[in-house]
Amino acid sequence: MNEQAAGSPSRRSSLHGHWSSRLAFVMAVTGSAVGLGNIWKFPYVVGEYGGGAFVLIYLVAVFAVGLPIMTSEILLGRRGRRNPIATMRILGEEEGSTPHWQWLGGIGVLAGFLILSFYSVIAGWVLSYIVNSFTGAYSGADLDQVVSLFETTSSSLTISTIGHTVFMVMTAVVVALGVQHGLERAIRILMPLLMVLLLILVAYSYIEGDFARAVDFMFTPNFDALTSEAVLVALGQAFFTLSIGMGTVMAYGAYLPEGTPITSSALTVVLADTLIAILAGLVIFPIIFANGLDPASGPGLVFEALPLAFGQMPGGIYFGALFFVLVTFAAWTSSIGLIEPAVAWIVETFYRPRAEAAIIVALAAWLLGMGTVFSFSVGSDFVFWQGTIFDNVEYLSTNILLPLGGLLITVFAGWVLCRNSSSEELGVGTGFIYRGWRFMARFVAPAAVVLVFLHATGLVKL
Ligand code: PHE
Repeated sequence: MNEQAAGSPSRRSSLHGHWSSRLAFVMAVTGSAVGLGNIWKFPYVVGEYGGGAFVLIYLVAVFAVGLPIMTSEILLGRRGRRNPIATMRILGEEEGSTPHWQWLGGIGVLAGFLILSFYSVIAGWVLSYIVNSFTGAYSGADLDQVVSLFETTSSSLTISTIGHTVFMVMTAVVVALGVQHGLERAIRILMPLLMVLLLILVAYSYIEGDFARAVDFMFTPNFDALTSEAVLVALGQAFFTLSIGMGTVMAYGAYLPEGTPITSSALTVVLADTLIAILAGLVIFPIIFANGLDPASGPGLVFEALPLAFGQMPGGIYFGALFFVLVTFAAWTSSIGLIEPAVAWIVETFYRPRAEAAIIVALAAWLLGMGTVFSFSVGSDFVFWQGTIFDNVEYLSTNILLPLGGLLITVFAGWVLCRNSSSEELGVGTGFIYRGWRFMARFVAPAAVVLVFLHATGLVKL
């Protein structure tokens, strides 16, 4: 590529200003990464796919695939300095490839939209559990009572629809008014608080739960139980929890000032996100084993295990309420990252005002989300392909679109972007870190995604 002719991309500046500091950037990306994926999804997929071996594959996926892809995404975002679709078009042209790379942005828009549709329903349940805390619905409850409380919540069209609607409105309002920064400032205090609460809960589970069995379940790999589907789900979970593969991180990277280290920022986010997921597991599994709950009971797992603990501890109602409020905030900063690509796309393609775009996307995602509401209630028998509507939307977005988006991102950063461009942008010279990243981005990450894909679809047997 001829950098002189293209104008030095590193001097291009974002249209929307820059992050005030590296910490602000790291907090924003962490805000998008930490959410229901850590607290709700991680424990239930670990439970469903048999524990230790799944956790191990997940950790390998996070560090060997997720970290290089997150680094690549930030790098591309900062170099392009536009929304993900425009960024990929500009960089595709600049690097002498094709503007069609913009379709990568299209995958992200679609993935974010699909994820948002069910994310909002689950976040709606979290909202209803704030109410349940105050009404004492789970106070002193035993296993049967918490299970039936979750069933009442998830199978009630009214409760699920109200929660889903309220959460979607919350998301749309923030994005329409463009007041993300207020929320991001709040999350700077709330996220550390969530971490403290999790640590207190781990201590509780250590004392009251079956901690030894939980640690054994989570960290002793039993590879006999590992299926190729489990490996695909672990990979999908790594993408989902890190918010990578759909342009969210790329969009945030567009506002990153020059000279800010990318690799260490990515590493910080990945470590924080992983820590929170593992802590959530260490809270939930000891309670599960001590109370005879089935670890493979699916999406309701957290909504059953946590109230069991809160219901029995002194002051548990207030503690529980506070916990669900914090999880709501964590989900809120994530849903903003989910809706943003679609909103930016509508604003820039159809020249609609931001508020209108936010309302359109939220409404459409709300409608599709009603499919998830039905999946847990009247429509639970309506199954095809992967299962219910929820199962299908979740599988398509998390296990197919995110890894596909991530694959294209890493292929672009590793193979299309020339050495000069990537080393200049990464800003760590051409030494060990640069070579390490490039090797992972060129070979390890793409090969892993392709192999897992082919294996899970039965095309290749390992
Ligand atoms: N990472 C978020 C979570 O774990 C979900 C998310 C995915 C948010 C992709 C933005 C983009 O809850």
